[in-house]
Amino acid sequence: MARIVLGVTGGIAAYKSALLLRLLLAEGHEVRVVPTANALRMVGAATWEALSGHTAHTSVFDDATGAEHVGLGQWAELMVVAPATANFLARAAAGIADDLLGTTLLVVTAPVLVVPAMHTEMWRNAATRANVELLRSRGIHVMEPAVGRLTGPDSGPGRLPEPPEIAAVALALLGPRPLAGTRVVVSAGGTREAIDPVRFIGNRSSGRQGIEIARAAAALGAEVELVAANVDDALLVGLGAAITRVESAAQLADRMVERIDADVLVMAAAVADHRPVSVAGHKVKKAGDTTTLALEQTPDILAGLVAARRSGQTIVGFAAETGDADASARTHAEAKARRKGADLLVFNEVSGSKGFGDVPNEVVMLDAAGGEVARAAGSKADVARAVVGEVVRLRSAARMTR
Ligand code: CTP
Repeated sequence: MARIVLGVTGGIAAYKSALLLRLLLAEGHEVRVVPTANALRMVGAATWEALSGHTAHTSVFDDATGAEHVGLGQWAELMVVAPATANFLARAAAGIADDLLGTTLLVVTAPVLVVPAMHTEMWRNAATRANVELLRSRGIHVMEPAVGRLTGPDSGPGRLPEPPEIAAVALALLGPRPLAGTRVVVSAGGTREAIDPVRFIGNRSSGRQGIEIARAAAALGAEVELVAANVDDALLVGLGAAITRVESAAQLADRMVERIDADVLVMAAAVADHRPVSVAGHKVKKAGDTTTLALEQTPDILAGLVAARRSGQTIVGFAAETGDADASARTHAEAKARRKGADLLVFNEVSGSKGFGDVPNEVVMLDAAGGEVARAAGSKADVARAVVGEVVRLRSAARMTR
């Protein structure tokens, strides 16, 4: 199931887009319709809303609190504009963004298909030709109009292609979706273990790596849940995954166990190894120059998931290691891979601020025997795509041998 934005502009063929919408929905995709003001003169908002099940906004001011003018573009895995008028092509070429469709087009990074429909003279006009060339040079896919009967008695190139043809071209742009139908649960962030009502033991994990893994899995068609421990809301915009918020290691463990039947479990969260033996009901007063806090171990969630694993399941763990007097970071990671038994242990070396926040990452992926299976480097999104790619490879290899 993909997330699709369907833009509709004010051409007579707008009614055909209602059929296009139905086709996309029938294939199981989630579609948000963004009509222009002129499109609503052809087909009313009620039609788009009843068919899509979502409000159909036109102006950036319709839902200012929801910041839809950026949100929709970030959310989309595919954008289709059908019909696209000559006026829309000119506005898109110039980057004009005075309505929701215009702003969404400037924000979207997913593939965009534009399906022009207009009179032959307008289609052949030098200004329109130049706009189409410019849009194509920017990587926007512009379909050729069909040839045939136009609005009046005349005919020629300029007709909107039939909806099934548009749907086929649009869905082909989505690319491979090897995780379609696969349930993926990813934990991310850092847990907080309460000391008293105002204090906790936490860690420096931003959750970015796990969030990017969720995003990368969703982009390949997976049905994703992110179990988010104390992550910044701004990082979750347009994620394409269900989000369950947790705070402590115990809450995170409970949610992972509830989802133990998922096909892929990824433990990217930085889980506290210890928590206070008891949580004070009131704010603890300072006592003396030194003080002692009694801690107990938290359960090892990853080890629990591995112990309960069923066949066909893929389990991924993470290890951020530093070298010490006993061994190098790599040696520690290899030992951890063998100890944890996950199908994939994603290891990175951390030191000081390296590995935390919005910084490039470098990882080595190890199998359950501690052997190296792959490496990846780059942004957290790059690393996430590589890790998810490895999950896809492992799952298809496992299917072959079954
Ligand atoms: N993990 C977990 N439950 C815990 C602690 C860690 O599931 N209580 C998971 C992390 O999400 C990660 C992996 O285990 O995927 C490795 O985490 P790390 O803290 O490096 O492992 P530890 O077993 O705590 O090892 P160490 O002795 O190095 O602290």
